[in-house]
Amino acid sequence: MSAKYPFAKSLVFDEPTIQRRIVELSGDIHRHYSGLVTETSPLVLVVVLNGAFMFAADLARALADRKLPVRMDFICVSSYQGGTHTTGEVRMLLDLRRGIQGQHVLMIEDIVDSAHTLDFLLKLFMTRSPASLKMASLLDKKAARRIPLRVDFVCFDCPPEFVIGYGLDFAERFRELRDIVVLKPEYYMKAPAAKL
Ligand code: PRP
Repeated sequence: MSAKYPFAKSLVFDEPTIQRRIVELSGDIHRHYSGLVTETSPLVLVVVLNGAFMFAADLARALADRKLPVRMDFICVSSYQGGTHTTGEVRMLLDLRRGIQGQHVLMIEDIVDSAHTLDFLLKLFMTRSPASLKMASLLDKKAARRIPLRVDFVCFDCPPEFVIGYGLDFAERFRELRDIVVLKPEYYMKAPAAKL
């Protein structure tokens, strides 16, 4: 671990484990939506940028393998603003390209932590009258909840530590890793982000 990722305290989920679980989860999602969506009314996968980009790319391809009709759209929100703790204030940086009225919508997140972001998105999208609205998340950090919301489709429960990789960042670093690891506390306690 230390040779591959000198900044990591421990490995949480490696690439094969992540990929296997995504294929399984795509089966659950396919079962739920297969009678509900069609080629003319596909499932809308809303990718919550930035963190969900890698998970969404793999999940969308797993759903394509199962021939589930989907279309993809993107929204960018931010609440951590480079730190390790939520500010509690969610800012929208980019909205969806198309409307979602009357459509089945599945939001895709990398992690649900305090659930401030999920709460913000649920309230925002419900004003747009979708046929249904659900959430899939790579990680669910239940111990950190400040708002008691449940995630519909979850890959893994997340330990109560600061994890990075596979889309998850610290100060916009480490999103490119194939695996999910715990960042050594000394990196976010005192090292300036530029020196990581
Ligand atoms: C992260 C993550 C989720 C959110 C989860 O986003 O991608 O969207 O925080 O935390 P919460 O449940 O406490 O709201 P962040 O604001 O760091 O932006 P990012 O996706 O660009 O990393």
